[in-house]
Amino acid sequence: MRVTMIGAGYVGLVSGACFADFGHTVTCVDTHEGKIAALKRGEIPIFEPGLDDLVASNVKAERLFFTTSLAEGVADAEAVFIAVGTPSRRGDGHADLSYVHQAARDIASAINGYTVIVTKSTVPVGTGDEVERIVRETRPDAEFSVVSNPEFLREGAAIIDFKRPDRIVVGTDEERAKEVMTNLYRPLFLNQSPLLFTSRRTAELIKYAANAFLATKITFINEISDLCEKVGGNVQDVARGIGLDNRIGSKFLHAGPGYGGSCFPKDTLALIKTAQDYDAPIRIVETVVSVNDQRKRAMARKVIAALGGSVRGKTVGVLGLTFKPNTDDMRDAPSIAIITALQDAGAIIRAHDPEGVEQAKLVLGNVDYVDSPYQAADGADALVIVTEWDAFRALDLKRIQSMMAQPVVVDLRNIYRPEEMAALGFKYSSVGRGL
Ligand code: UGA
Repeated sequence: MRVTMIGAGYVGLVSGACFADFGHTVTCVDTHEGKIAALKRGEIPIFEPGLDDLVASNVKAERLFFTTSLAEGVADAEAVFIAVGTPSRRGDGHADLSYVHQAARDIASAINGYTVIVTKSTVPVGTGDEVERIVRETRPDAEFSVVSNPEFLREGAAIIDFKRPDRIVVGTDEERAKEVMTNLYRPLFLNQSPLLFTSRRTAELIKYAANAFLATKITFINEISDLCEKVGGNVQDVARGIGLDNRIGSKFLHAGPGYGGSCFPKDTLALIKTAQDYDAPIRIVETVVSVNDQRKRAMARKVIAALGGSVRGKTVGVLGLTFKPNTDDMRDAPSIAIITALQDAGAIIRAHDPEGVEQAKLVLGNVDYVDSPYQAADGADALVIVTEWDAFRALDLKRIQSMMAQPVVVDLRNIYRPEEMAALGFKYSSVGRGL
């Protein structure tokens, strides 16, 4: 089949490369000339494990193409995906749909014969109706359907998530569109991934409900971890104890410094706004957002407490800056709020991240960025683990202990065992584990 992705960002690029890998002919369109030129040279603008090889092999097989010309990309496509950004609008938290609307206008002018227009970007309920209205208005004669097909890709695991999804959600009531979408995803449901057809508005809501539910699950275990610290419980055991109940499930129960990233913070805010607009406020998600915001600053206070109540003039080594491992994404990373709060309290920050330093430099000033965890620890008064990169799981702890000015480790991801750290002579604190 011929497929077009409008937007060669994270979602468009991963989805485009995976569709091409299934054997479809895919064109990724982006207005950013530099990005398209780089992609044509085989340079991938984002860090995502496996994506460079996937793109290279499908370009070589002549199944994956890049262009800045939307007309060229869309002309013969059976399905055109809108995969442009929907950032939080400044001021009110609503999703900014200007890129989606522009894409709808551009697609309308370029389609040729029956085309399924698919919104892949995360968009508020009712956006599909609006896209349909725009296309109809721009091209009254066009034959098309507008379908919602939300993505559930995690950064760092996006290719696996695309190729082995728990489900594929397709929102449309039109039989012709269902047939096109079924053919497109056939390789996946042959692998047993369920294809769930719903109405378009329901599909749009499923995406927000899924992300808000996951954000709630994380926030729930984070608050349980605070209680564990007060009463002497172990949050990892609590998570295991509740997670073995199939109705709860064991995933997304890792306590930590609060969720971040390009999706949960933006999508929870957008869901709250939509729900308020329709006079059906989702108070549990409103609470989740405010608890998560406060949590990041609370983590800075934890570091200050570990250093006896003051960090003024002290050097704090930070391990991990990105919002999670295996990405260079710094959007809403907990490290930003934690480091800023520590700097406000007078700390000197030295930080290491395997992939995120270039992005971190854009959002964090006055940080001494170093090339290894050991350099971050050298002479530091405290070492704070903010992101659980695998490279931090097997450090030479004896060496670290001997290098630090004070052997204080604050492990916000619980990657080390308290007994081991104590035996090595560290003053160790973590999240939700004991008194
Ligand atoms: C999330 C969803 O997991 C994807 O299904 C969804 O498609 C995507 O948003 C999106 O809407 O595009 P992502 O933001 O890449 O994916 O990352 P997650 O792995 O979900 O992690 C989000 C945040 O939650 C991270 O800061 C992570 O450290 C934190 N987290 C996650 C926890 O603190 N504890 C957990 O148990 C799990």
